[in-house]
Amino acid sequence: MKGLLLAGGHGTRLRPLTFTGNKHLLTIANKPMILYGLEHLRNAGITDMAVVLGPTREGIVELLGDGSDFGVRVSYIEQPEPKGIAHAVQLAERRMKGEPFVTYLGDNLLKQGAGAFVERFGRSGADCVIGVCAVRDPSRYGVVEMERGRVARAVEKPKNPKSNLALVGVYVFGPAVFEAVRKIAPSPRGELEITDAIQWLIDSGARVEAQEVTGWWKDTGTVEDLVEANRLVLDDLKHQVSGSVEDESNVHGRVSVGPDSVIKRGAEVRGPVIIGKGSVVGEGVYVGPYTSIGDRVVLKSGEVENSMIMDGCTIDTSERIVDSLIGPNSTVSSLGAARPKGKRLVVGAQSTVEL
Ligand code: TTP
Repeated sequence: MKGLLLAGGHGTRLRPLTFTGNKHLLTIANKPMILYGLEHLRNAGITDMAVVLGPTREGIVELLGDGSDFGVRVSYIEQPEPKGIAHAVQLAERRMKGEPFVTYLGDNLLKQGAGAFVERFGRSGADCVIGVCAVRDPSRYGVVEMERGRVARAVEKPKNPKSNLALVGVYVFGPAVFEAVRKIAPSPRGELEITDAIQWLIDSGARVEAQEVTGWWKDTGTVEDLVEANRLVLDDLKHQVSGSVEDESNVHGRVSVGPDSVIKRGAEVRGPVIIGKGSVVGEGVYVGPYTSIGDRVVLKSGEVENSMIMDGCTIDTSERIVDSLIGPNSTVSSLGAARPKGKRLVVGAQSTVEL
C-alpha cells in the first residue's frame, strides 16, 4: 500500500495567510499541518508516499525532504494548477505502480488516523474505501448516500443533501480509480471532482465501502476550523516543561514549554497551552486555555486565549486577544496615551480585523 498526500490547492479561504505560504505549513499546536497527515499514513504502515505540490510549494520540500527524518520515503508530484483532487490522483498514476494507495488530503486531521481505512480495504476486498463522518451541515461537503451497506451515491456539496454523511479526506483506492479519473469531466467550478470519480466507480460496478470515523475529524479550510483543530489537538497535550518557569508565575493545568522559552514571574498560564522554542511570556501577561504560542514569540503585555500566535510574533497590548490566529512575524501593540488617539492598523489584503 502506498500513500498520496495532497499539499496543493489554492487555499483561498485562508487568505491572507496563504498569500505568503502553503496552507499545509500552517501550524496546529505548533506542528505543521502536513506532518499530521504524514504521521497518520506512517502509523497506518505506509512508508512509501508521494506528496502533491501546488502553486505555493515553498517550504514543503525543505520540511519533508526525502522523508528519512520522519521514517518514510517521500517523492513529489507537481500540480502547478489546482485542477481538483481527482486531477491530483490522476497525476499519481505512474508513481502508484498499480498498487492500492491511500489518498490523504493534507488539510484534514483525524483523531483516529488512517489505520482503520487501510485495514477495512484489506479485510473487505472492496475496490475503494472512503472515510465518512456524520455532520450537522452536510451541504458544505461531499456527501454520500448508502444502500445495503455500500456507497450508492457521492455528490459534491449538494444543495439538498439526502444524507448527513460527509466525505472525509481519506480514500483508499485500487488502480481502477485511474480509469475513473480519465472518464470524468471537470465540474462547473472547473475541477475534476473526487466525488465524480467515486460515482463513476460505483456506476461501473465497483464495490465502494464507507468507513465511519471514530473520534473527531476536522477539515481545516477556514480560520475558524484551524482554531477549532488547535483546540482538539491541545485536548491531548501532555504537560512537559523544557524551558523555564520562574518562581511566582502562575501555571495551571497541562502546559508544554519548549527549550529556551521562559514564563516570567507574575505571568499566568492556564493550560492546555503549548509554547514553542525561545519564546517569552512576560510579567503580567495572561495566556488562557487552548492557546498555541510558536517559536521566538514575545508576549510583553496583554491577554491571549483560545488563539494561535505563530512564530516570531510580538504582542504588547492592553487588550485581550481571543479566538484569533496571528500569522508569523506579526506585531500586535497598543498605542497607549499616544496622540492622535485611535487604532493604527497595517493590514494586508483580505485580512479580518474585529475591533
Ligand atoms: P480544498 O480545501 O478543496 O481546496 P483548497 O485547499 O484549494 O482551499 P480553498 O477551497 O480555500 O481554495 O482542498 C482539499 C485538499 O486537497 C487540500 O489539502 C489541498 C488539496 N488539493 C490539491 O492538492 N490539489 C487540488 O487541485 C485541490 C483542489 C486541492
